[in-house]
Amino acid sequence: MLDVANVRADENKFPNEVAAMFDVVAPSYDLANDLLSLGQVYLWRRATRNAIDPQPGALILDVAGGTGTSAAILSRSGADVVVCDISRGMIEVGEQKHPEVDFVLGSATDLPFDDDTFDAVTISFGIRNVEDVPKALEEMYRVTKPGGRIVICEFSTPIPLVRPPHNFYLRQVAPRVARLASAAGGAYDYLSESILEWYDQDALGAMMDAAGWQDISYRNLTYGTVALHRGFKPLA
Ligand SMILES: C[S@@+](CC[C@H](N)C(=O)[O-])C[C@H]1O[C@@H](n2cnc3c(N)ncnc32)[C@H](O)[C@@H]1O
Repeated sequence: MLDVANVRADENKFPNEVAAMFDVVAPSYDLANDLLSLGQVYLWRRATRNAIDPQPGALILDVAGGTGTSAAILSRSGADVVVCDISRGMIEVGEQKHPEVDFVLGSATDLPFDDDTFDAVTISFGIRNVEDVPKALEEMYRVTKPGGRIVICEFSTPIPLVRPPHNFYLRQVAPRVARLASAAGGAYDYLSESILEWYDQDALGAMMDAAGWQDISYRNLTYGTVALHRGFKPLA
């Protein structure tokens, strides 16, 4: 029998382990997010939506879009939104909750789409879980139309004053809170570890640059605990 409490990925981020972990997290994923972020996730999703600036009729790809929560927000503007995610479990929950969104099973490092397809690509709290981050950034670039944009919303390095309480929260509080909302406790140990090990704002910006993205900028949300990165694919 599957030991749900102990299914988790580790720093290797092997795609099969990451997918299995999100499969067990899926049923309580959105509730756990609301609790663990102390409601901040609503602000982060609104800021992400504004950075994408979805237009009616635009085609937008939400990579690692999970249960479609952020995609559904984008589709309210009249954009057509496609979620591509590696976890069948997350997609099944998403298809139930958001029939207005298209869900495709696939990997960020081998996106199942043609070159120059999307007006914008976005990834929220997903890129940290990908085994090969440079490859994912290149793939997102490949499927974006010239002139299109990328928006990345991800945990990041907070301002110095906030680092000690943030670390305490991630190490001591978040895993305990998560166990109240989800049977998949081990997955939330991974969550804290992966946030603490993740790149800072400048390092992620440098990787976007190396993948070809231009006019790269970021802004901190909630004192830098989360950062919103944006870039563009040049027209020529
Ligand atoms: C923390 S969830 C974020 C879901 C959603 N973007 C959101 O903001 O709620 C991370 C998602 O990334 C997906 N994921 C992880 N690695 C992936 C990969 N290599 N390719 C596609 N999806 C991946 C997981 O299956 C999971 O749904």
